[in-house]
Amino acid sequence: MSEIKQLSVQALEWTGKSLRVLDQRLLPEQIRYHEYHDAETVAEAIRSMQVRGAPAIGIAAAYGVVLSVKRHYRADWRERVERDIQLLAESRPTAVNLFWALDKMRAALAAAEDPLVVATEAALRIHQDDLEANLRMGELGADVLGEARAVMTHCNAGSLATGGYGTALGVIRSAWRRGLKTVYAGETRPWLQGARLTVWELAQDGIPSTLIADSAAAWLMKNGALDWIIVGADRIAANGDVANKIGTYSLAVLAKQHDVKMMVVAPMSTIDFSLANGNGIEIEQRHPAELLPDCYLQKGSLVQAWNPVFDVTPAQLITAIVTERGVVLNPAEHGGVRSLKT
Ligand code: MRU
Repeated sequence: MSEIKQLSVQALEWTGKSLRVLDQRLLPEQIRYHEYHDAETVAEAIRSMQVRGAPAIGIAAAYGVVLSVKRHYRADWRERVERDIQLLAESRPTAVNLFWALDKMRAALAAAEDPLVVATEAALRIHQDDLEANLRMGELGADVLGEARAVMTHCNAGSLATGGYGTALGVIRSAWRRGLKTVYAGETRPWLQGARLTVWELAQDGIPSTLIADSAAAWLMKNGALDWIIVGADRIAANGDVANKIGTYSLAVLAKQHDVKMMVVAPMSTIDFSLANGNGIEIEQRHPAELLPDCYLQKGSLVQAWNPVFDVTPAQLITAIVTERGVVLNPAEHGGVRSLKT
């Protein structure tokens, strides 16, 4: 395998000797790719959110390992590559796909005779498998939606956040082809993944959407306009608790109140079977500057910010968890996602 065939917008592109990363901080105004040749700059691209979204972070890190091997494999390569793997692992804490992908790369390299060939094949495989998982989840999720006419999504769980097609947006893409009528996107403060990325990504595929302020979600549901909320995930614990973009928990609580169903779409690489429940998930706190105007960032300012960028939705509030291995309906009543473990 030498390249990944893309179906829609592309967050990551492996050129054969470098990683091209679409700078998502600049969307939708500018489409600019940066080209990276080493693990350090890939780790920085993840930390600074040029590339974001759980599966895409994992894929970028896998290519970061390839770049590390490429740079170091002539001498003492194992030690140096392991140092780069550590660096990549420190780039963001919540999405388990990052650690999953790094573990896969480590395992592939363990017995490798030709490390560069083995690492490249392993990274391309992680990328391709994610794309295929998304296509499968798209169909499975659309089956669950059935005749639903209106859905809302949060953050961006699309091609931009994955190896292609998307998780939540993959389901929306598949359902759209089957007659889904209305897609709402929450703007997703403070980083505006919904406003800057999701509505743009859907428009690239000719799918119309309606943007709402995050604070309008309750009123939208009250007006009876929604059948399902569909989101991705950064980490799912064994009992079905789901860490995802901050605001997902509020949407799930609101959905319960208004009889709206809640779907989580994520590949198996997002499930952390080592965690019995969501309490052990590290929630990333980002810099107050992402929330506060400059005037409050001065020394001695009386205004601070609390900026957790993920939250944990208890399994009890989730109607369906869709993975490429199958769907778990009402996970809280069925032992979480444990039935998916092979
Ligand atoms: O901070 P981000 O933009 O990386 O957060 C992304 C999300 O929370 C997504 O919903 C999640 O990673 C799933 S992406 C398929």
